Amino acid sequence: ARRVVLDCDTGTDDAVAIMLAGLSAELELAAVTTVRGNVPVDVVTENTRRVLQLIGRSDVPVYEGAARPLERDDFPVPKAQLTGFEMHGTYLDLPPASGPPEDASATDFLITEARRHLADGSRFTLVATGPLTNVARAVRSFPPMTHAIDTIVVMGGGHAVSNVTAAAEFNLWADPEAAAEVLSAGFSDLLLVPLDATHRALLSRDDCSRLRAAGTPAGIASAQLVEQRIVGHDDSQPMAERGTAPVHDAVCVAALLDRRLLTTVEAHVDVETQGRLTVGRSVIDLHHRTGRKPNARVAVDASPVRLMAQLLNAFSSREPA
Ligand code: BDR
Ligand code: CA
Repeated sequence: ARRVVLDCDTGTDDAVAIMLAGLSAELELAAVTTVRGNVPVDVVTENTRRVLQLIGRSDVPVYEGAARPLERDDFPVPKAQLTGFEMHGTYLDLPPASGPPEDASATDFLITEARRHLADGSRFTLVATGPLTNVARAVRSFPPMTHAIDTIVVMGGGHAVSNVTAAAEFNLWADPEAAAEVLSAGFSDLLLVPLDATHRALLSRDDCSRLRAAGTPAGIASAQLVEQRIVGHDDSQPMAERGTAPVHDAVCVAALLDRRLLTTVEAHVDVETQGRLTVGRSVIDLHHRTGRKPNARVAVDASPVRLMAQLLNAFSSREPA
């Protein structure tokens, strides 16, 4: 099985991504690292452990990471001042996790994991579905880390779609300096999954019924979480198709399980860190105007049918893989 570390800010769609990674036979979920994003980092850690406990994977270690961005004291604009971005609640409505999380920090774990792989010549896959603070910190302290990673999948950015401001997507906006550093760090394969792709793989209430019908804790919980997202999405995105929602972070894990789920193009991607109106915006050079070498495979389309197939496959079995 492919060894995967998930760095996330759980979060309703992060929760679905964790369940998919924790229950897929093709993936070995080595650890989950947490970062402040949708909610404060201690809440992210607790939510992450609740999700793992629910699916019988409390054996997966959880390492708590950054409580604030790489260089800023807070998000570019305090989250409380933004409208239409309260889809994630605080604590997920699941039984509290028992026992404490790991002592080591997310960054220390990422560096230790990278050193171990470099020592034996193996590599692991990193899936980052929150602000990129932990990853940027780890790469800053230990630049060779990039060589220990075969693919880094990043949920973030948007070319024609934005969500947190008129210009930007949440994960890149929440820590633009970290995102810019990760994009230029020299990863050999960086798969960027922006909103343009995740908004193509919208799930519906019918999809939720099919997930619930699996009858497993993951099937039932994911149905509930996606339904919650549909209500939030209907409220916040008046122009979008009603009765559906994107499940951004799950798309990133599903893409590892089905190579045909995403359509990608190679492009150079940078992140605006200064713009008065555009801070956190991904600048995706789809038409090769900058002359800069591509640093990412950028997903431009995603299949909802293939996403559902992976979720149903993983959530239908009672036993963790
Ligand atoms: C991203 O922002 C978060 O709220 C979601 O969990 C997802 O990772 C989408 O912009
Ligand atoms: Ca997330």
